[in-house]
Amino acid sequence: MSDGLEGVVAADTVLSDVDGQAGRLIIRGQSLDELAGRATYEEVMRLLWDGFFDDLPAELAPALGAARLDVFAEVSALDTGLLDRTPIEAVRALTARLADGDDLAVALRLTAAPAVFTAAVVRAQAGEAPIRPDPGLSHAADTMRMLRGKAPSRAEADALDTYLVTVSDHGLNASTFAARVIASTRAGLTSAVLGGISALKGPLHGGAPGPVIEMLDDIGRPENARAWIENALEHGERLMGFGHRVYRVRDPRADALKAAVRRLTEASDIMPGRLAFAEAVEAAALAILKERKPNRPLDTNVEFYTALLLEALAYPPSAFTCVFATGRVAGWIAHAREQLVGGRLIRPQSHYIGPLPLRAA
Ligand code: ACO
Repeated sequence: MSDGLEGVVAADTVLSDVDGQAGRLIIRGQSLDELAGRATYEEVMRLLWDGFFDDLPAELAPALGAARLDVFAEVSALDTGLLDRTPIEAVRALTARLADGDDLAVALRLTAAPAVFTAAVVRAQAGEAPIRPDPGLSHAADTMRMLRGKAPSRAEADALDTYLVTVSDHGLNASTFAARVIASTRAGLTSAVLGGISALKGPLHGGAPGPVIEMLDDIGRPENARAWIENALEHGERLMGFGHRVYRVRDPRADALKAAVRRLTEASDIMPGRLAFAEAVEAAALAILKERKPNRPLDTNVEFYTALLLEALAYPPSAFTCVFATGRVAGWIAHAREQLVGGRLIRPQSHYIGPLPLRAA
């Protein structure tokens, strides 16, 4: 058996292809280079969902804006018990209040949910009231406006759009696989998305970017990087933002997001010097990983520059995974629909290695 199902092909899909040797990501026939920084999140939703819903409108932005308003009603369920939880747990709990189903209306509400709930949770944890969505804005611009209470600059909205597009789909990653397994039982899209959120929150998957900021803050200065990293590895820790199950070269999303951070910092005076510092830490980490694991290519993954980008957009690190879910939800839904339309119940077998009964029955 393959440990961690490495190398196992578990589904046919038209949605995305991750080429780990070439470092290439294709989303529905288009390379990430063609989409990141060029397409809007709504356009990529359309690309992913095309053919999986009969009634898909030509323009998804108004329908998604209306869905944001619709799910905003659930924010009133945020109570003190939920506010003590991590943002991703609170977002998951609010998402669980949405009705299950398989149609476009359910899909739109689920796509709106992480954007609306993340903003409300972050604000409530800071003692601030939630902000009602503006259905006339783009999803990226409204996502940021609901967080801050004022419209983002064009450069900020573009940066978030680039992020949401970049993480919208990525083959059969752990959260997408979880979503497909749940969809295969015909439990409904809400159940599939809740499974996706639950898998995403782990630090080996979508929970990594928050700890990247902790690492950068702890290192503090470029000259401390080598000693800090060596000490972490000697204590058996993993460097967050490095390594990948499929990529044996650099994750192409890392460069798409680094370019977005560069555009954002050039368009404003946000965090001058932070990008150069992060690049120095990255270079030290790559050199040390190469020295210590010469037989296992370990390169930068999507989470390293995710952390820089979301930090520049003033998201608290505790909410980074929620923003990841805000982008990935369109992919989970597309995979769930693909599974539902063309797939069977996913039910593999296990290999029993436990004890046998002492006496045969
Ligand atoms: N830092 C240090 N060592 C690492 C790292 C890392 N980030 N990643 C892998 N390794 C080492 C392992 O310790 C192992 O060494 P060993 O063979 O001497 O024991 C070797 O590389 C192979 O590691 P595996 O665990 O087999 O790799 P796997 O494919 O299971 O893990 C994963 C991939 C989970 C992403 C891993 O690289 C990791 O933990 N990275 C840090 C967390 C992270 O950044 N997660 C986000 C991934 S991107 C995403 O999901 C959106």
